[in-house]
Amino acid sequence: MKPAEAAAGRQWTSSSEARTRGLGEALGQVLRPGDVVALVGELGAGKTTFVQGVARGLGVSGYVASPTFTLVREYRGRVYLYHVDLFRIGPEDLDGIGFDELMESKAAVVVEWADRASDRLPADCLWVYIHGTGSQVRSLHVRATGSSSSQLLRLWEREAEAERAGVGG
Ligand SMILES: Nc1ncnc2c1ncn2[C@@H]1O[C@H](COP(=O)(O)OP(=O)(O)O)[C@@H](O)[C@H]1O
Ligand SMILES: [Mg+2]
Repeated sequence: MKPAEAAAGRQWTSSSEARTRGLGEALGQVLRPGDVVALVGELGAGKTTFVQGVARGLGVSGYVASPTFTLVREYRGRVYLYHVDLFRIGPEDLDGIGFDELMESKAAVVVEWADRASDRLPADCLWVYIHGTGSQVRSLHVRATGSSSSQLLRLWEREAEAERAGVGG
């Protein structure tokens, strides 16, 4: 499949923290081992809120923080989840946290501030841009850059719609 055929996009609006978390939760319910989700947005956009939802969707109960890799949090759910936050680290520090190994791992990976390592993310990955901060309504722009992430996006859309229908919007 050519990249142009594989690429897909979607936009959602979120007017509450709960809605952003709910969209993350729907994604967490369909995340597969090896999936990489790249989050982009200003400080306070809602990236961490979104990841909390992802963890909930994966059924995370345990939380393992490795003292050596404090910039990477590991959660045990239906599949393992690595939550990477690049806010405090520069490109020169990526090797120190084993970034390339994380991208290759069988866990699902969600990266905050992914634009800071865009050249080291897999070619096929799901980008989620969150626009807006403070009391503003958030806009989530999603872009899948390959066939696997496009499939993930379809699963996510289906789950998000089912969830909305279930709770009556
Ligand atoms: N629609 C919304 N979606 C997500 N967060 C929101 C929304 N509206 C207000 N907020 C607030 O914005 C903040 C987002 O914080 P956080 O998730 O830590 O952002 P980031 O990780 O992007 O810096 C929270 O205090 C949250 O309550
Ligand atoms: Mg954050």
